[in-house]
Amino acid sequence: MLKFFTSGESHGEALVAFISGLPAGLEVAQDFVDHELWRRQQGYGRGGRMKIERDSARILSGVRHGQTIGSPISMLLENRDWKNWQQQLPVEKGDSSLHKRVASPRPGHADLAGALKYNFSEARYVLERASARESAARVAVGALAKIFLKELGIEVLSHVVAVGAANVEHEVPWEKIKASCDREDVLLNCAEPEAEQSMKAEVDKVLRTGDSVGGVFEVVAHGVPAGLGTYAQWDERLDAQLAGAVMSLQAVKAVEIGAGVASAYAPGSAVHDEIGYNRDSGFTRTRNNAGGIEGGVSNGQEIRVRGYLKPISTLRRPLQSVDFTSREPVKAAYERSDVCVVPAAGVAGEAMVALTLARCALEKFGGDSMLETLRNFRGYLEQVKNF
Ligand SMILES: Cc1cc2nc3c(=O)[nH]c(=O)nc-3n(C[C@H](O)[C@H](O)[C@H](O)COP(=O)(O)O)c2cc1C
Repeated sequence: MLKFFTSGESHGEALVAFISGLPAGLEVAQDFVDHELWRRQQGYGRGGRMKIERDSARILSGVRHGQTIGSPISMLLENRDWKNWQQQLPVEKGDSSLHKRVASPRPGHADLAGALKYNFSEARYVLERASARESAARVAVGALAKIFLKELGIEVLSHVVAVGAANVEHEVPWEKIKASCDREDVLLNCAEPEAEQSMKAEVDKVLRTGDSVGGVFEVVAHGVPAGLGTYAQWDERLDAQLAGAVMSLQAVKAVEIGAGVASAYAPGSAVHDEIGYNRDSGFTRTRNNAGGIEGGVSNGQEIRVRGYLKPISTLRRPLQSVDFTSREPVKAAYERSDVCVVPAAGVAGEAMVALTLARCALEKFGGDSMLETLRNFRGYLEQVKNF
C-alpha cells in the first residue's frame, strides 16, 4: 500500500516528507525531484518568499545507489527563511517576548477555527501548519510517484484554464500542455498565449488594488490504462479518490472530473462519450467528457481533473476581523503573501493525482520490486490487448 505523510511548519527548520510502498529497483533522479519543486515556486503573482526559497529535497533514507530499496523514503526540505525565525519559533522554550503573534484571525484562513480547536490564544501555530508551504513536501513525494508512473508509460502534467475572469474554454490537447510545462520562463502556465495575457491582466488588476485572485487548474494524466480504481466499493472509486486528493490542497474549493460541471446542465446525448472500435487501436471514443473515468474506473482515455481555487485569503488591504485578546474590531493581520497561485497549485495537483494513480496502480499490479510490478503490468496490458 502506497502511503505518505508530511510534517513541518512554514517558518520552521524544514519540511519532512515520508513515502512508503514504492517497489525496490526504481531509479530516482534527484534533479527531477528538484525541478518539480522549482515548478511549484513559479508563476506570476507569487510573493517575496519564492525569491528567498529555492527548494531542494534531500533524500535521507530508502534510496541507495540511485534506486529505491523497498524501505520507507524520507526527504528533507530546508526552509531557507529559518535563519530569520530561529528566535521567534524555537523548538525549546525560548524567549516569549520574541514570539510573533498573529493577533487577529485572517478571514479565509484556518486562523480562527484552528485557534478555537487547539486552544491557542492567537494564530501563529495555526498559520505555520495550515500554510500551503506544506504542499512543497507533497510535490517532493509526488515526484517519486511520477517517476514510478513513467515506468508504466503514464505522465501527469497540469495547465491553467482560468485566472479570475480570464479563461480557456476549449479542451487543450496533451502536446500543448506538455510544451507549456516545458517552458523555462513560467508566466501562468496557460497553454494559450492570448488567454495567458488576459490572465496576467487579471493578476495586474489585483496587484494594483491590493486584492487577490483565484482560478482553475487542470491536471491531465496521459497514458493511463483502463482498469484503475473500482466501482466495487465507494471509497475505492478512482473519481472519489482523485476528488479527495485534489480537494485536500490548500485553497481548492471544488473539484471537477472531465466536463462534470457543464454535464449537469446538458442532455445525456451531449454528454456521454460514444464508443467505437477499430482493429488497430481497439475501443475508441470521439470525445472525453467523462475525463477518463466511468463508474469509478479509468476507461483508457486521458484523465482530466480540475481544481477550483478561491482567491488568496491574505490581502494587502485586509478585511475586517477581531483582535484575539481585546475582541475589538481590527483589520486582519497581514503577512507577506502571494496574490495568485493557480500555476503552483496545479503542480501540487499533479503531485496529488500522481500519488493517487501510483497507489491505485500498485493496488492493481502489486510487486515488491520493479521487475515484479512491470511483469504484472505488462501481463495485464497483454490481456487487455487480447480482450
Ligand atoms: C501553492 C499555494 C500557495 C499559497 N500561498 C498563499 C499565500 O501566500 N497567502 C495566502 O493567504 N494563502 C495562500 N494559499 C492558500 C492558503 O494556504 C489557504 O487558502 C488557507 O490555508 C486556508 O485553507 P483553505 O483555503 O483550504 O480553506 C496558497 C495555496 C497554494 C495551493
